[in-house]
Amino acid sequence: MATTRVPTTPFSDQRPGTSGLRKKVKVFQQPRYVENFIQAIFDNVEGAKGSTLVIGGDGRYYNEAVVQTALKMAAAHGFARILVGQKGLLSTPAASCVIRKHKAIGGLVLSASHNPGGPDGDFGIKFNMSHGGPAPESFTEAVFKRASAITEYAIVEGADIDLTRIGESKIGDTVVHVIDPVADYAELMEQLIDFNAVSELFRSGFRMRFDALNAITGPYAKAILEGRLGAPAGTVVNGEPMPDFGGHHPDPNPVHAHDLMELMMGPDAPDFGAASDGDGDRNMIVARGLFVTPSDSLAILTSHAHLAPGYAKGLSGVARSMPTSRAADRVAKKLGINFFETPTGWKFFANLLDAGLITLCGEESAGTGSNHIREKDGLWAVLLWLNILAVTKKPADQIVREHWAAYGRDYYTRHDYEELETAPANELMDALRAKLSTLPGQRFGELTVQECDDFAYTDPVDQSVTPKQGIRILFKEDARAVFRLSGTGTSGATLRVYLERFEPNAERHNLPTAGVLAPVTEAANAIAEIAKRTGRNEPSVIT
Ligand code: G6P
Ligand code: ZN
Repeated sequence: MATTRVPTTPFSDQRPGTSGLRKKVKVFQQPRYVENFIQAIFDNVEGAKGSTLVIGGDGRYYNEAVVQTALKMAAAHGFARILVGQKGLLSTPAASCVIRKHKAIGGLVLSASHNPGGPDGDFGIKFNMSHGGPAPESFTEAVFKRASAITEYAIVEGADIDLTRIGESKIGDTVVHVIDPVADYAELMEQLIDFNAVSELFRSGFRMRFDALNAITGPYAKAILEGRLGAPAGTVVNGEPMPDFGGHHPDPNPVHAHDLMELMMGPDAPDFGAASDGDGDRNMIVARGLFVTPSDSLAILTSHAHLAPGYAKGLSGVARSMPTSRAADRVAKKLGINFFETPTGWKFFANLLDAGLITLCGEESAGTGSNHIREKDGLWAVLLWLNILAVTKKPADQIVREHWAAYGRDYYTRHDYEELETAPANELMDALRAKLSTLPGQRFGELTVQECDDFAYTDPVDQSVTPKQGIRILFKEDARAVFRLSGTGTSGATLRVYLERFEPNAERHNLPTAGVLAPVTEAANAIAEIAKRTGRNEPSVIT
């Protein structure tokens, strides 16, 4: 089979964000759009000849067509071996696991994470490096530069590979190995989590619901929870990955996973509830009658991780993104382990993990992970929770309440103002920055500003500095408001306002979150002049 070199002209909009190139499906469907971008990636992969590449995606609309194109282009580029998930599927954490385990040079991960799918939804392509994590900005900028000047791409024309059957075939000289998308990942989980203890938990009558939201984690959760751990059939609901996620918005939070929330808050709630997102890296944890915030979940996993075999020796440290609540900080302090506060974005954890400075990390945006791979990992978080429940033999809500009693509770909420016009959203942030020096000492309703800044991060490993990562306002009353603009939206700007208040008194741990945070909300709205500058009186989403 011969390689064809096809002339092409650049598209001007192929600059990858933190999570690769994410656009509407319709944009990717333009002729040569996918080919140009993949060629620009391959042109930046050094040492491709003779090496192994991983390809897989979350099964959303257009996944399989892009997998076939990527296979033929990878063959033209001289990769010796390609590992591709059966039916073109690989969750993001599984892709990271496969890249590491098989010493691949990297992988193409096809996903737009928690964004809706289907022909009118979103699609995405990102490249992960040999450590299994997303490419750094130096790489993605080089890809953008290449894509902006591209004149041709190379492809081996030929019949599509049969992705339904596990096994080997060839495109030209390249061996294509269609792999079971679950096997390597399940094996890794078995090393980290006490599968016997969790099986015993299910045998004892423990019941849970895992809502896969018709996205990629369905096959993983079914194989591991129902298959290996003996959870009853039906534990995993919405378990079939669908190109449009069955119409679900596959973002595991109380708003989008409302069916699970309703069940867990109702009289028929099972012992435990969990959900994951489109590509399987996010997680949501719900105890009976109690939603566990991702910030609390990180703190609780940090204090209990040693109960699982993979972490029995203890943790070297923990990191959280800046807007994530300060709950994990207190646990780190008590355990005497490293603690880091990073900007939003999983990539900031990579250096800390590679250097062994941390073992666990997490974000308020429902991502939790550890040093086992270089992506966040939804199902892993659920399994670690199950391990903890199995060993402590306590209900999940009791674990949360005991955690609050020991460390205090961080009441926490996030207000999103979506699809704002870009100019006023930027002006709001600029105005906030401009008045930072005047805020300390000022009173807003019940609260007085103690200190504030525009968060800048110096990476402790390579000393690189990342400025302007969000405005932090700390109040004397141990409350905090954080403002930042989303880096992942696909239309307009999204303002995120993160609100929290620390409550050490256990007698005040069962109050409604919105009520406790009302003074913080009012102060934040006043300081940022949200209504005046955005024209919105209410956030579009509250989680
Ligand atoms: C992606 C990244 C996360 C990050 C999130 C923030 O999901 O993988 O690491 O926390 O985006 O999104 P935002 O829209 O708040 O910039
Ligand atoms: Zn995701």
